[in-house]
Amino acid sequence: MTNVLQRDAENISALTESVQRYAAEYLQRLNAMPTDNAESFLPQLSLPETGWGAASTMTYIQEKMQSLFVASPGARYWGYVTGGVTPAALMGDWITSTIDQNTQSLNGPGDMTALVEQQTIGMIRELLDLPAHFMGGFVSGATMSNFTCLAVARQWAGARAGNDIAREGLVKAMSGGESPVVLSATPHSSSLKALSMLGLGSSNVVIVDKPSGREALDVKHLEALLQEHEGKHVILISSGGTVNTVDYDEMLAIRRLRERYRFWWHIDAAFGAFAACSPAHKHLLAGWEEADSITVDCHKWLNVPYDSAVFFVHERYAALQMQTFQNSSAPYLGNPADNFSYLNFVPENSRRFRALPAWCTLVAYGKEGYREIVERNIALARQLGERISASTTFALQAPVRLNVVCFSVKDLNGTQLEREAVMGFLDTLNHRGKVFMTPTLYNGVWCLRAALVNWQTQQEDVEVAWNELTEVYQEVFRREVRSKSSERAKKNPI
Ligand SMILES: Cc1ncc(COP(=O)(O)O)c(C=O)c1O
Repeated sequence: MTNVLQRDAENISALTESVQRYAAEYLQRLNAMPTDNAESFLPQLSLPETGWGAASTMTYIQEKMQSLFVASPGARYWGYVTGGVTPAALMGDWITSTIDQNTQSLNGPGDMTALVEQQTIGMIRELLDLPAHFMGGFVSGATMSNFTCLAVARQWAGARAGNDIAREGLVKAMSGGESPVVLSATPHSSSLKALSMLGLGSSNVVIVDKPSGREALDVKHLEALLQEHEGKHVILISSGGTVNTVDYDEMLAIRRLRERYRFWWHIDAAFGAFAACSPAHKHLLAGWEEADSITVDCHKWLNVPYDSAVFFVHERYAALQMQTFQNSSAPYLGNPADNFSYLNFVPENSRRFRALPAWCTLVAYGKEGYREIVERNIALARQLGERISASTTFALQAPVRLNVVCFSVKDLNGTQLEREAVMGFLDTLNHRGKVFMTPTLYNGVWCLRAALVNWQTQQEDVEVAWNELTEVYQEVFRREVRSKSSERAKKNPI
């Protein structure tokens, strides 16, 4: 062991205390920290021959890297769909790193953390009121959850045509003309990425029509497509909350179609699943319990640290899932038939004990805690939406159905800003560092999106955000406002 490593091992107590102090100070300041990079410059550094030791490395992070960090786990980071980290989730994450277990089988030596994973999956099912027939596991994010679910769907499609795609590859299945037909109205880009990774092709999705002004699918058109493709192997990717406007496909109608047509029903409910925590909103998901697979992200509304999500797959597909992720050709890893192992159930082999942060936060705050977070975020998003609706400078582009506010900016003539001007507006807003939003193109209009999924967001944060929006508007249009008013003054001298 080098001297440096030896010294760190001996000083482990002082080192962990310094990290604890750093974390506490960081988190206490979090909501006052900028939501955008103060700096984007990282000094060049090459690998040292003799290491610095952990204490100097920590000092370097504080002195040279700190300015690159943004308050993305804070109360006013509303870009993308960015959750924070509850205190209990942070605690769980530290313990996960400290104990460093490899989560695989339920009774294998050294990896019994899989038992905790299964217990956590059970608690998430309870939180979301999902039936026990859903098996689940942790992956790194909703993208990998969509991938996992769609990989099993692909295996199902292959099996229906007499192919074992996991073993035989796609070539045989495709050359027999048995390629699955994928239907979706508004697939999240991560589902398209999953289709690319699975060899199904991101451009092969048959797009289901949407009623005007909606992102949800038109049920009649879906039925027409199901009729057209009857006899083929159809996979439907439906939305349990679209990313732009949190629109939900009509689950009960899809469930009824399932009685007449055979298709794999996947729901991407990455964050929309949490509507189930709110008695006033859970109707949006009614019927979803009949799906074949569901994606739920944990680093969004569950507020656990990156990277964490779960998949749910109906237990009737257990064998297909094991075929899909079979890792049987390594005798040193044991016989997969002997006991359940995540090794044969998820894309990764070795895995971080991701369940623990989720387990901690679920146990620490319970159903009531999540109901409160979800309902508070929804209520605050509505308030922001109401202010936007009442203003003459901004325009809501969709009703605030849940927790996302999607709105455009109007110029002084009342015309919606185009892409470049929206980006300019957003840059000014974000660089002020008090609130962070991201752009989107919705219905042909360039918009700003604010997605509220953070446990810390409060009423005063909406006030801050609204003040920022109005000040930035004035800043961006100040010159125009001034010149217009001086023109008016010239026309109407008092
Ligand atoms: C509906 C939906 N699905 C999937 C994803 C991808 O999530 P991740 O970045 O965690 O992979 C997102 C991210 O915002 C999402 O909103």
